[in-house]
Amino acid sequence: MAKEYKRYLVTSALPYANGPVHIGHLAGVYIPSDIYARYLRLKGCDVISICGSDEHGVPITIKARKEGVTPQQIVDRYHEIIRKSFEGLGMSFDIYSRTSSKTHARVASDFFRKLYDDGKFIEKTSMQYYDEEAQTFLADRYIVGTCPRCQNDRAYGDQCEKCGSTLSPDELIDPHSAVSGSVPVKRETKHWYLPLNDYEQFLREWILDGHKEWKSNVYGQCKSWLDLGLQPRAVSRDLDWGIPVPVEGAEGKVLYVWFDAPIGYISATQDLTPDWEKYWKDEETKMVHFIGKDNIVFHCIVFPSMLKAHGGYILPENVPANEFLNLEGDKISTSRNWAVWLNEYLEEFPGKEDVLRYVLCANAPETKDNDFTWKDFQARNNNELVAVLGNFVNRALVLTQKYYGGKVPACGELNDYDRETLAELAKVKGALEQNIENYRFREALKEAMNVARIGNKYLADTEPWKVVKSDPERVKTILNIALQITANLSIAIEPFMPFSAAKILRMLLVEPFGWERLGRTDLIAAGHEIGEPSLLFEKIEDDVIQKQMDKLAAIKAANKAAESAQNIDAQKDSISFDDFQKMDIRVSTILAAEKVAKTKKLLKLTVDTGIDKREIVSGIAEHFAPEELVGRQVLVLVNLEPRTLKGIESRGMILMGEDASGKLVLLQPGEKTNNGAIVG
Ligand code: 2FM
Ligand code: ZN
Repeated sequence: MAKEYKRYLVTSALPYANGPVHIGHLAGVYIPSDIYARYLRLKGCDVISICGSDEHGVPITIKARKEGVTPQQIVDRYHEIIRKSFEGLGMSFDIYSRTSSKTHARVASDFFRKLYDDGKFIEKTSMQYYDEEAQTFLADRYIVGTCPRCQNDRAYGDQCEKCGSTLSPDELIDPHSAVSGSVPVKRETKHWYLPLNDYEQFLREWILDGHKEWKSNVYGQCKSWLDLGLQPRAVSRDLDWGIPVPVEGAEGKVLYVWFDAPIGYISATQDLTPDWEKYWKDEETKMVHFIGKDNIVFHCIVFPSMLKAHGGYILPENVPANEFLNLEGDKISTSRNWAVWLNEYLEEFPGKEDVLRYVLCANAPETKDNDFTWKDFQARNNNELVAVLGNFVNRALVLTQKYYGGKVPACGELNDYDRETLAELAKVKGALEQNIENYRFREALKEAMNVARIGNKYLADTEPWKVVKSDPERVKTILNIALQITANLSIAIEPFMPFSAAKILRMLLVEPFGWERLGRTDLIAAGHEIGEPSLLFEKIEDDVIQKQMDKLAAIKAANKAAESAQNIDAQKDSISFDDFQKMDIRVSTILAAEKVAKTKKLLKLTVDTGIDKREIVSGIAEHFAPEELVGRQVLVLVNLEPRTLKGIESRGMILMGEDASGKLVLLQPGEKTNNGAIVG
C-alpha cells in the first residue's frame, strides 16, 4: 500500500536569473510540476507549489561585468521577465520568490551556521587560481584557455562548450583570466566542505534500497555517483556576489550557489506562510522536486545530505527529473541563442498559451531526450487541438444552441451505445490518476485527450444532425451526453490546459466541478442555459510557422559567422617594405578556363595580364566552374617563379581569399580597370 500523505510540497528548480526561460526548461521542469500541482489542487489536497529565481552564482557576475552593470541589476531584470512569463503561461506557483531576498539571506545563513556550529563542515585550505591584476580569486568559469580534448581556445575552467567535456582549470592549456586577461597565479585560500562521504551509507539506504521506484535515469545517476564514492564538496567560494559566509575570518567569501539555491525552497515557503514548518518538518508531507537531469546530483545527493546534516527536515519522496529537449535537432543553448524563449513566444502567440503547454507535454523528454520542431507544433495544434478537442466542444455547444436555444436538453433512455460510451468515459479518471501520480504526464495527457476523442466519436457515430429530422427526442439524449462529456473535459484537461478548461466553463456558464466528479454524467442539469460558443483553438497557418523557422535559420547563420570569425588565423611574421615591393601584382582578365585532364583540383586559366597573355594553373577546380571565371577581372601575382604542373607551365598566381570554413572567394577590383594596372 502506498503511504497516504496529509499534504504536498511541490518544488520546481529555481531558474537562474541570467536569461529568460526557454522551452527546454518548460518541458523538463515547469510544465510537469504545474500539471502535478494543479491536479493535486483540483483534488482538494493541501498542496503548495514553490519556485523562484536563483540569483547567485558566477554566470550572473560575468554577465553583469560584460554589460557594465551590477549583478543586482541583472537579476532584477531577469527575475521580472521570468516571473511575468511564468504567469503568462499559467504557472500556478503559490509563490515565485528570489534568492536575493532578505528572508533567503537569513534562512541560508542560519542553515550554514547550524552546520558550522554542529561541526558538520571540514575547513580546508587549497591552492586556487588568483588574478593579481584584478586582485580576485577566479572561479573556474573565469578561467579560459585551450581545451585539451578539442583544442577550442575558448574553453572554460569547468567546461568546454564546444565538445561538452567537463574540465578542471588545471587541465586547460594556456589558462588566463577572463577578468583581466592576465595569466593567473595559484594562491592559498580557505573553504568549508561538506564531507559527502560521511553521508554515503545514509544515501545508499535511502535511495538505492528505499527508492527503487524512482525514474531509472534518476536512480541510475544516483547509483553511479554512489558507486564512484563521494568526496567532500566545497560549500563556499571566493566571490563578491552571494550570501556572505556567516563566520569570522570569512571576508570576501560567499556561500556556493548550489548550497544556497535549494535552501531557496525553504525560504520561499517561509515567505509564503507562517505555517511553513508543517510542510518541511512533518513526515506526513510528501515533498517532490521537479528538476532537469543536470540537477540530479544536487537534489538527490547534496541537498538531502545538507538536510540530513541539519536535522529536523523531511527528504524528498521523489525527484522526477526529465531528460533534455532539443530544438530542431540541435541542443538548446542559451549562449548560442538556440532556443524558443517563453517571453517571446507569449508575445508572438497571444492566446496560444495552452498550445505550447500541450505540445511540450505531449512531447516531453520523460524517458529520453526529445526534439521540438515547429512543424510538429503546427501539426499537433491543427490535427489534435483544433480537429479533436476544439471541434468536439464546438459541435456540442453549437448544436445545443441551434436545436434548443442553448438550453441543456434532458437525457432520455440510454441505448447500448450510449452506455458503452459512458463506460469509456468512466475509465478516464483512474487512468489519469495512475499516470499523473506516477509522473507519466505524456500518457496522462493522452488520457485527457481521450475524453475529446470519445466525444468526437460519439457525435460522429450518432449523427444528431441527421437524426434530428427523424427522431428529435433521441437527439436530446445525444446532446445531453455530449454536453456531459464537454463538462468532463473541463476537469480532465485543467492540469494541462487551464486556459481552455476555464474557457469551456465560461461557455457552459458553470462553476468548476472539482476532480472527484470526473467521469460522472450528471454534471450539467437539464434546463441549464449555456453561453455563446466560440472556438477553443485556431488553425496555425504555414506562414506563421515559416516565420519561426526563418528566425531560427537566421540565428544559425549568425552563429556560423561568429564561429568562423573566431577561427581567423593568427597574423604571420612581419615582412619588410622591400619584401612587399618585390611582389608584382597586376589586374588581369581571365580569357579562358578549362579543367586539367585527369586531375580533380586543377584548372588551366588563360589570362591577359596587360603585359602578356599567359597560362596559369590554379588549384581551384573544386570551388569554381570554368565558365563562371571567364571574363572576370582578378588580381594576379605575375612575378612568381614559373612552375610546371601536369606538363603545363604555370606563370603566376591568381589571388584568392579563403574564409574560416575553407571556402574560396575571388579577389576582384571594385570597379573595372585596365589589365596590367599595378596593385600595391
Ligand atoms: O540549473 C539551474 O537552473 C539551477 N538554477 C537550478 C537550481 S534548483 C534549486 F536548487 F534551487
Ligand atoms: Zn573541448
